[in-house]
Amino acid sequence: MSYETLLVDKADEITTITLNRPRAKNAMNPQMHLDMCAALAEVERDDGCRVLVITGAGDSFCAGMDVKEYFYDTDKSPGERAAARKAAFEWMFGRLRVLPKPTIAAVNGWCFGGAFAWLSVCDFAIASENAKFGLSEVNWGIIPAGGVTKLVSTLLAPRDALYLVMTGRPVSARKAAEMRLVNETVAPEKLRETVLDLAAELKKKNPTVLAYCKEVFRVDQTLSLEEALAFESAKWMELDAVGKKTWHQGVEQFKQERSYRPGLETYRWKS
Ligand code: COA
Repeated sequence: MSYETLLVDKADEITTITLNRPRAKNAMNPQMHLDMCAALAEVERDDGCRVLVITGAGDSFCAGMDVKEYFYDTDKSPGERAAARKAAFEWMFGRLRVLPKPTIAAVNGWCFGGAFAWLSVCDFAIASENAKFGLSEVNWGIIPAGGVTKLVSTLLAPRDALYLVMTGRPVSARKAAEMRLVNETVAPEKLRETVLDLAAELKKKNPTVLAYCKEVFRVDQTLSLEEALAFESAKWMELDAVGKKTWHQGVEQFKQERSYRPGLETYRWKS
């Protein structure tokens, strides 16, 4: 499928979605939200996709919501604003956050405002050293909404989160890595290679197990310890049923065959 605001590339079981409005610094307009809903539905049902990478075209990752098309133009049309917001929430939280496949944000440049919402719910984020990050909302008179304040308050230390929220100052990629907003920073020419290395490592893991790891992590965040213990036990049993106890292969390869060490590498699984 092709999209007005996105490019989708599939190679070696890795799907890359590139936000493709470089002349608007990949700001998210209502059409982009509709396109992302459809593209992520396609990724989810594509058995040939094992890892999803999201990046931006040109010198920008994503300049947040399109301040004109998303906010200003819909200000007098509550219905249109609500529809755009619904689509935004649908792809970011209903699809990307819980996608049963690993997701990596490849932050290639400017990253502002609403981009933090979906950056925060990607499983991994690798940034180019020349990327810049900021919660600019306060600089033009709004609050970081749409989940942004909630997500940065969960992901970052309160001092760092409030610094971003209240100063609106842009910070470097290195600072973003120090804050743990991204996993690491790399030279711009190494960004794609670093992301593909991580994707290749993730592809070696049992995809069913990975999907369960991620689901349990996301749900556990909302549970008490007692609830999490019960949920993890239930999910363990469900994985045994669905995943056919491939962990027996892992134990046999370690204890009987002595062919690998689980502390250092992945077992050879057959489902
Ligand atoms: N919404 C709509 N359009 C945007 C945009 C946004 N969030 N961010 C950039 N653009 C547009 C600009 O209006 C400009 O359009 P034009 O060429 O038709 O005038 C074009 O993208 C290029 O932007 P420009 O400001 O000229 O590029 P720059 O390299 O000098 O600066 C930014 C890049 C990202 C620092 C700057 O565009 C900016 O501050 N954007 C707003 C970021 C923001 O506050 N996002 C939060 C929204 S919640």
